Amino acid sequence: MSLQTITADERCTVQAISPARRLDSIQELVRHGLSQPPKTLPPILFYDERGSELFEQICQLPEYYLTRTEQQILDCYAADMAQVCDPELVLVELGSGSSTKTRTLLDALFVRGQRPIYRPIDISQAMLQATAEELTVEYPDLQVHAIASDYEHGLEEVGKQKGHQKAFLFLGSNLGNFTRSAAVALLGDIRQAMHPGDLLFLGLDLVKPLPLLLAAYDDRDGVTAAFNKNVLARINRELDADFNLERFRHQVVWNAAEQAIEMHLRSLGDQQVRVRDLELAVTFRDGETIHTESSHKYTQEILETLSGDAGLEIERMWLDENGWFALNLLAPKNNGAMEQ
Ligand SMILES: C[S@@+](CC[C@H](N)C(=O)[O-])C[C@H]1O[C@@H](n2cnc3c(N)ncnc32)[C@H](O)[C@@H]1O
Repeated sequence: MSLQTITADERCTVQAISPARRLDSIQELVRHGLSQPPKTLPPILFYDERGSELFEQICQLPEYYLTRTEQQILDCYAADMAQVCDPELVLVELGSGSSTKTRTLLDALFVRGQRPIYRPIDISQAMLQATAEELTVEYPDLQVHAIASDYEHGLEEVGKQKGHQKAFLFLGSNLGNFTRSAAVALLGDIRQAMHPGDLLFLGLDLVKPLPLLLAAYDDRDGVTAAFNKNVLARINRELDADFNLERFRHQVVWNAAEQAIEMHLRSLGDQQVRVRDLELAVTFRDGETIHTESSHKYTQEILETLSGDAGLEIERMWLDENGWFALNLLAPKNNGAMEQ
């Protein structure tokens, strides 16, 4: 798929999927998700401009231990991460958001005199563009070549690039939004984009006591509830729908079989919603839910299985002091023997 270049100066470029293709894909996801039981809306739809702002607020919440715990690991081990990277490298980040934690790794690379080119990939174009511009100001020696797209198309684009070592960064336990089989497929896409000597730094949230997990997705101030419901506001705005946000409630459940926290929007009463741009009328029974996100949790054994199935192996695992979160270093299996 071709990407359009929408911003270009010497040190900062942003490529993006065309607005028409983006709208097609939103329409397809909403039609598919709301047309069959159980109703679903995939997490990629959360991240319009408002959704990205709300996620930044979630990262600051006391209940949302994920961000500060992963930051703690980076604070302790970014120098070790930098040490396994080449002097010249392309740092590719999936779901980069505001790239806040990434700055710790960039700092560690620059302290060692390494020269990264940064390639963030994120569906949230407004956040990506603003962050790319900020980074070029903050780091005068950094080139930023950003891609506003889904992971798959972004990986296709960076996979074409040969030459310097590529270090992939996938933080925030974003992989957890994918079912175990979809996670293997996505890790396989990353593996496909790798050449010999390339690396993957993968941040994953670990299985832990249930009250901690539930609170992280259902904070007292209702920020996560607002984030969840924002997907309905987005569909109202972009597809001319008439969801009444007051008639849906944020719900969080633990799926023990999948080892995943699930977020749902639960219909308060029987109701019908129209999505005019799709010529779709959607009927909800009282208590019926739209499943909006799963956040799968990990153990070392689960990661070994998933990464092994995707042709990757774990080389190192850095943990925080409580053992709540793991930042993993993965490399292609039989690294040296890979074909170019
Ligand atoms: C949970 S936030 C994490 C942000 C940041 N990496 C962190 O750890 O704080 C997920 C980020 O990934 C992006 N994202 C979610 N699904 C995506 C997809 N399928 N393709 C590309 N970007 C995606 C969102 O726009 C958002 O910036």
